[in-house]
Amino acid sequence: MAAVRRKLIVVANRGPASYERAANGERVARRGGGGLVTALRGLVEPHDVTWIASAISDEDRVVSGENEGRAFDETSREGASFRLRLVAHDPQAYDWFYNVVSNPILWFVQHYLWDLKESPNLDDAFHHSWEEGYGAVNRNFADAVLDELEREPEATVFFHDYHLYLAPRLVREGRPDAALQHFVHIPWPQADYWHVLPLVARRQVHEGILANDAIGFHTPRWRRSFLRCCEDFLGADCDFAVGTVEHEGRTVRVTANPISLDVKEFEELKESEAVLEAERALQPSRPEQLILRVDRTDPSKNVVRGFRAFELLLDEHPELQWRVGMLALLDPSRQDIPEYAEYVGAIQREARRVNDRYARIGWTPIDLRVEDDFAASVAAYKQYDVLLVNAIFDGLNLVAKEAPLVNTRDGVLVLSENAGAHDELGDFAVTVNPFDVAGQANALHEALRMSASERRRRIEGIRARVREHDLAAWLAQELEALPGLSTSRR
Ligand code: F6P
Repeated sequence: MAAVRRKLIVVANRGPASYERAANGERVARRGGGGLVTALRGLVEPHDVTWIASAISDEDRVVSGENEGRAFDETSREGASFRLRLVAHDPQAYDWFYNVVSNPILWFVQHYLWDLKESPNLDDAFHHSWEEGYGAVNRNFADAVLDELEREPEATVFFHDYHLYLAPRLVREGRPDAALQHFVHIPWPQADYWHVLPLVARRQVHEGILANDAIGFHTPRWRRSFLRCCEDFLGADCDFAVGTVEHEGRTVRVTANPISLDVKEFEELKESEAVLEAERALQPSRPEQLILRVDRTDPSKNVVRGFRAFELLLDEHPELQWRVGMLALLDPSRQDIPEYAEYVGAIQREARRVNDRYARIGWTPIDLRVEDDFAASVAAYKQYDVLLVNAIFDGLNLVAKEAPLVNTRDGVLVLSENAGAHDELGDFAVTVNPFDVAGQANALHEALRMSASERRRRIEGIRARVREHDLAAWLAQELEALPGLSTSRR
């Protein structure tokens, strides 16, 4: 039977590709970073996609200018064609949008990252950045969407993430009948924590996103919080069982559908030359038992407490010294934001402190590598005995799905109860509270000592879940929630 193709306008801050100039002057397209982009690239092949993203690199801005800000034809690395529209925002507005509002404020709200007696201090910088940065960039995105809808009025618009809470309302005002959907890739915190934001901002966030017809979250936990916020902040009528919000005469559908991965892609990747080479490079320094973590250097990932838990493990079980090591592969992230730059310093200090205490010639307890090296991460996925994912809060955490899929040692997943992935994988993981350092040390010990049959049972359970609910299943479920579908036949 012919596959159903849908006309989609995907709207996300990052595009599937970002342009650069190579040393020889040639323009090259680099795969856009982050889990969201990895997942959404899967949309491009089976559907008619126009992707609207910010022009982030200098070369993106040049490409955008060459196309007069309009969409142009692009081909994915897998050979699928799509249209890409790069929006070149005013650089100052984009800085306020990304480095003042989206990441240090909205990201921090949504991951409960503040020590409230100290921060945040929402001074004038926040207020004008909200309007002239976050608001301005959202207006640019909305204008681009409206322009694309002129061309294809029946297309469905698929917004992504916390960068774009205001755009749906602006599009709805311009096109009351447009089919709009939003997926939120990060947690939705409880109503009280949203009270950190001034009234006007938290109302705009909720009113903005409710202009969609459907809103997706990874888990029922984040969905429940969202519905509760809609009740509290807007007095909206919410049905928690069905997952709907009645707002301004419209019914908005709210779903929980955890994102997943392309199983085939990872199975091919694990045999790729780059990964095999990285695996060979890992071997000489491999301890008898390897504890691994792979993260961005994001405060929500809880790297420092993870090192402390490992230190406690070595304190309490001296017999593990020399035999067990922790490998931390950390991708530097958002380094123009002081909180993020300082967090890298905190990570380095803590690793140094533990290593100074325990290292002996020939054994370094924590092998810390702060670099963007995807092949090395996949190689380490294959090699771990214990995978530590102890996020403070996390929308989902794709590492918890990717790594078990390709692991060759029946490694054990130690998983934060506050990672969205815990909802699906908790039965097969050793659960930790991310603040309980002693509990994490015990969990690491339990994982290191687990019997072979139990390890096998658990990792097979994770794999079965990931295979059953893979990226295609996630996409299919998302698109089912999209109203006003426009389909074409291949
Ligand atoms: O959903 C959160 C997210 O957008 C992920 O897709 C990705 O891992 C990360 O944040 C990327 O952040 P940034 O685009 O700021 O590098």
